[in-house]
Amino acid sequence: MKITLSILKADVGSIGGHTKPSARMMEVAREAVKAAIKKGLIIDGFVSHTGDDIALLMSHTKGKDNTELHQFAWQTFLDATAIAQKYGLYGAGQDLLVDAPSGNLRGAGPAVAELEFEHNPVKTNKVRPAESFMMFAGDKCGPGAYNLPLFLGFADPMYCAGLMLPKLIKGFTFNIIDMDNTEGDSIISLNAPEDYYKISMLLRDNERFGIDSIVSRTDGEPAASVSAMRLHNIAGTYTGKDDPVALIRNQGIFPAPEELVSPYTKAHYVGGDARGSHVMPLMPVPLNTPVTGVYCLPLVSCTGFSLDAQGFFSDGHIDFFDNPAWDFVRNKAQEKALAMREQGWSGAAMLPYHELEYSGFRDTVEGLMKQFALRDGHKAAAPSKAR
Ligand code: 13P
Ligand code: MG
Ligand code: MG
Repeated sequence: MKITLSILKADVGSIGGHTKPSARMMEVAREAVKAAIKKGLIIDGFVSHTGDDIALLMSHTKGKDNTELHQFAWQTFLDATAIAQKYGLYGAGQDLLVDAPSGNLRGAGPAVAELEFEHNPVKTNKVRPAESFMMFAGDKCGPGAYNLPLFLGFADPMYCAGLMLPKLIKGFTFNIIDMDNTEGDSIISLNAPEDYYKISMLLRDNERFGIDSIVSRTDGEPAASVSAMRLHNIAGTYTGKDDPVALIRNQGIFPAPEELVSPYTKAHYVGGDARGSHVMPLMPVPLNTPVTGVYCLPLVSCTGFSLDAQGFFSDGHIDFFDNPAWDFVRNKAQEKALAMREQGWSGAAMLPYHELEYSGFRDTVEGLMKQFALRDGHKAAAPSKAR
């Protein structure tokens, strides 16, 4: 059968600032997902949070961008928003940017990633005898936060030795989206390994270019889907950080979990953090971790699932970053964070002007630009745009 995995994630309110959703909000989301399974809308569902964002992971047979499924997620986020409002929580309904989206939720605020593939997990199936996948959820970080780790996992044998195996040696196609193009989804397809340098050239810019999806060049099987979109480009103003999600299939014709998570040992610097306007290291954390660290810290969680023949998330899940090995990386991330924080607002510590997510920061600069005057006779300087 054709199966679709959908993850939809939104920040609709949190306790004591932008930390985590309340237990009541999580309960409302869990009950809604349970009811959707009972009704037959979805096969299975899993509700979690990373920082202040609630993520709904669902398996179903309705395909990508399905109105009914996306509307269900929207309603669930609205119900959680109502709880947030009732209890006076911070940022109630923050990521629900439109009043009532008529179809799917792309561009409406919530982060969306979906994978659709043929599902027939039997021993004789040469391509996919078993289906296992991972869900990544980021908080306090920009949409390109996965650019580097996904590139290393899918294109660099230093991280993924599996790329040297016959099943993977043809490499992967990277579909990269220009997130600054607000006319529509503007996408380029580049192939690793031969386009390695070109892919790097784009992916180095985490704020503008993001990996939208990755496809196997051996079988044409979809390998990864990422919610690469910019909230501020959608809303036209700051409404919170983009906090991307990703779904990634693993093992067999795809990289193994360890090959996909090992790049996160870098705790690489990404845009995001406080007021969505800083550069700080991405810290791998267990699922359901609140944001209470020193000066936030961008967070990422990674959860693994298997799918049984009927499309249920068989036998629980596995929390990849909930392991003592990652404590070492968390310490490293904290050290890198403190090093960056030493310089406060100076230079690399904050995002460049046009990437500052808080539009208020830009308003302050614009106001000051008007006060500039030429040295000779205090003639008002020609209005040079702040950029
Ligand atoms: P969220 O998008 O997670 O709400 O983060 C907003 C922010 O500005 C953090 O300081
Ligand atoms: Mg928030
Ligand atoms: Mg968030």
